[in-house]
Amino acid sequence: MGAVMVKVNAVTKDYRMGKIKVPALRGVDLTIASGEMVAIMGPSGSGKSTLMNILGCLDRPTSGRYELDGEEVSQKSDRQLADIRNRKIGFIFQSFNLFPQLTALENVELPLIYRGLATGVRRARAEAALVRLGLKERLHHRPQELSGGQQQRVAIARAVAAEPEVVLADEPTGALDSRSGEEILAVFQELHAQGITVIMVTHDPNVACHCERILRLADGVIVADDQVRQEDYLVAQEVLAALPVPVEVEGDAQA
Ligand SMILES: Nc1ncnc2c1ncn2[C@@H]1O[C@H](COP(=O)(O)OP(=O)(O)OP(=O)(O)O)[C@@H](O)[C@H]1O
Ligand SMILES: [Mg+2]
Repeated sequence: MGAVMVKVNAVTKDYRMGKIKVPALRGVDLTIASGEMVAIMGPSGSGKSTLMNILGCLDRPTSGRYELDGEEVSQKSDRQLADIRNRKIGFIFQSFNLFPQLTALENVELPLIYRGLATGVRRARAEAALVRLGLKERLHHRPQELSGGQQQRVAIARAVAAEPEVVLADEPTGALDSRSGEEILAVFQELHAQGITVIMVTHDPNVACHCERILRLADGVIVADDQVRQEDYLVAQEVLAALPVPVEVEGDAQA
């Protein structure tokens, strides 16, 4: 086990609905090593997205501690959290969250602006990320001119262009057909192979078994934390290895 990337201690999260308190996390303890690839599963409402939002510094715990890459982050200000997100985290959502009025290239470039990179460097990095995800012919398309799988690949390009240490994905394949979903998984495997920590929420056991470890949440607590059986993991690896890297379908290359 390498260096610790994520260390969560006794984290709770209550949402407030007027006078009513909704407990979403009720004491989560969790350690994830740098470079691990982890799936989070559990029924609807069990707290998966709430936990991901905390891990991704999009939200703070109500109580407890969260150390990301050795740094205690649970008490940071919004500004500090935004800065940490920008430096360390790539977040991928089920619904892609792309800006509809921006092209693929502009969507990927946007977070790099906050990094203070020069225009040329920014553009080159964004383009390289999109090319790597098989979207060379789609740089100037807007989201509605792309398929769901392509939109998700733009979202992944956006997440990885900033060279994050942790990629967090909340049901990244939830809105995709199984073929597009497998392409997305192949990309995550590649990130994992590069040593990036990958944490993803999924409802699909076939997706989860592409990870090395599966956490299960129920009612705001972790109820199971299992290593994926080696033979399941290997079968999943073989399925992925048989897939070509995402490329534009033939006859589909006109911009
Ligand atoms: N902004 C919010 N305000 C109030 N309650 C919330 C809010 N977000 C989530 N909750 C509640 O917190 C609990 C956990 O929600 P969460 O979104 O983390 O579940 P989930 O495991 O991601 O579910 P799903 O699989 O449906 O996405 C639920 O009971 C939900 O109703
Ligand atoms: Mg959710």
